[in-house]
Amino acid sequence: MSENIISAKDLCKSFAHNGGQVHVLTHIDLDIREKDFTVVMGASGSGKSTLLYALSGMDKATSGSVLFEGKDITKMKEKELAALRSRDFGFVFQQMHLVSNLTLLENVTVPGYLSRDKSTSEVKARAEELLSQMGIADVKDHLPSQVSGGEQQRCAIARSIIHDPKILFADEPTGALNRKNTKEVLDLLTDLNRKGQSVLMVTHDLRAALRGSRLLYLEDGNVIGEMTLPPYNKEDEKSRETQVNAWLSSMKW
Ligand SMILES: Nc1ncnc2c1ncn2[C@@H]1O[C@H](COP(=O)(O)OP(=O)(O)O)[C@@H](O)[C@H]1O
Ligand SMILES: [Mg+2]
Repeated sequence: MSENIISAKDLCKSFAHNGGQVHVLTHIDLDIREKDFTVVMGASGSGKSTLLYALSGMDKATSGSVLFEGKDITKMKEKELAALRSRDFGFVFQQMHLVSNLTLLENVTVPGYLSRDKSTSEVKARAEELLSQMGIADVKDHLPSQVSGGEQQRCAIARSIIHDPKILFADEPTGALNRKNTKEVLDLLTDLNRKGQSVLMVTHDLRAALRGSRLLYLEDGNVIGEMTLPPYNKEDEKSRETQVNAWLSSMKW
């Protein structure tokens, strides 16, 4: 049984809106397990991104606690939290946010240099290794605008794991990609998870959800359903899809 890497206890998040409050997350108790590929699904506007931001300390919870390795990140000072995010967490978003005038290789190495744990040459070697693992070594000297969306996203994933984060958070990482590029990026995330990377991804894309080993369904501010699956295997994709579809229908997806 793997350990919990993140635990939310009585987590609430509200936003001020039109003079009132919108309660987006209401009293969530949730454990995210190490080495799982956890996927949070839910309709658009159900609070998936809000949950990811609260669990990763990118945004402050309104109340409740979020434990990472037993430490409550909601009690941390911004400086401590920023250090934790840059050391232990990796982030991937729908928009890749690559720096347009840096090459793919430079986009990966620059945050690595900032983390200061490794020497410049170690960072460069690790970046080259990641880019070739991701199948984009041949375009490493290209600018982001000169490669496909899938290649850009694979570069963004390399950048997000250059510092060996303990957990990778992904917010709709395939949301801006076509079918082929979606598959490439999902294959990559699946492969990273198989090698032991803990992943927490939020998505409303069924293709993406199929890669998860644990699926959660968010509605009305809380997790209303959960499904556990064996690690993804391409051979069983059809039956997995049938199973996940049945589960999603039961969630009124
Ligand atoms: N900064 C904010 N201020 C006010 N309302 C917000 C803010 N961020 C999100 N919301 C509201 O919270 C709800 C959930 O948003 P979000 O987490 O982005 O949903 P999802 O990612 O599932 O589409 C939406 O109704 C959205 O309008
Ligand atoms: Mg969202």
